[in-house]
Amino acid sequence: MNTVTCVAPVNIAVIKYWGKRDENLILPVNDSISATLDMDHLCAKTTVTASPDFKENRIWLNGKEESMQNPRLQNCLREIRKRAQVSNGMENWKIHIRSENNFPTAAGLASSAAGYACLATTLAKLYKVEGDISGIARAGSGSACRSIYGGFVRWYSGSDPTGIDSIARPIAPATHWSEIRILILVVSDSKKKVSSAEGMKRTLETSEFLKHKVDKIIPTRINEMQKAVLNSDFTTFAELTMKDSNEMHAACLAAYPPCVYMNDISHSIVDLVHKYNDATGTIKAAYTFDAGPNATIFLKERDVSEFVGILNNFFPMSDLYLNGYLKGIPIKAALP
Ligand code: PMV
Repeated sequence: MNTVTCVAPVNIAVIKYWGKRDENLILPVNDSISATLDMDHLCAKTTVTASPDFKENRIWLNGKEESMQNPRLQNCLREIRKRAQVSNGMENWKIHIRSENNFPTAAGLASSAAGYACLATTLAKLYKVEGDISGIARAGSGSACRSIYGGFVRWYSGSDPTGIDSIARPIAPATHWSEIRILILVVSDSKKKVSSAEGMKRTLETSEFLKHKVDKIIPTRINEMQKAVLNSDFTTFAELTMKDSNEMHAACLAAYPPCVYMNDISHSIVDLVHKYNDATGTIKAAYTFDAGPNATIFLKERDVSEFVGILNNFFPMSDLYLNGYLKGIPIKAALP
């Protein structure tokens, strides 16, 4: 019997991936850039055991047994088998997978990113796979490929139809920009109504604005963002982050029928951040929203307590957070 356990963190995209040019291989229509959180807060923990005594492959997510027939899971296993380096018979043993998140699943908190990055890392260790494994994580969930690395990471969409060049690469370690802090404001931890897979498909098929974003906005924006990270230029970083989030959600609203992920509280957080920045006469905070109503706020460490004080004023005793935590979710998560 062989057992491996790994932990992988959540990443938050500042230039979003939204739309696949190949649904089966999970190849994106554009490059994306993200920041990976530290391991102390939002992360997934996965244990895989292989044994000659197991009769079948089985998986438990947060303690509940799920079907192994999930196509994303099968994709990941297929990619691992292609690159496995074991030849002692273990490759034929059945496996048991146990994965847990320390935060709500499918609430727009990038749970699948941490989950599949963790699964890919654990399986790669078990089967002694060498080299870049971001492609294996990508086979489970696109954004997972960015969680393989810490700090700031770029996922190159690539152009090869096989997906061989669609991989993640680090831009800079977190230590490069150590003053950055990330707050996760949990507006709702219920499961999203439209999955990101369904939302992306519908948006790509029906939203003219998404085409415009991918063709005309992203090619310049992605390089500006990379430069802002490398130059530790918070003003540009923050402005581009907010614009990209707004444009992703605008593209979703321009889908037919529209995909709505943000709610009234999300919009009031957007308002608050703009008012805060206007009042201080500089850009001190930036918001971004994934496929759900929860906000991620980027700011510098020295501004965290001021901003949290203002949040307290606007959302007193609110459901957003309680003593820094809401249902176990920290509102403050640092980069590693
Ligand atoms: O990897 P998925 O299928 O969960 O899609 C993630 C999409 C966003 O989180 C909204 C954007 C991103 O780049 O992470």
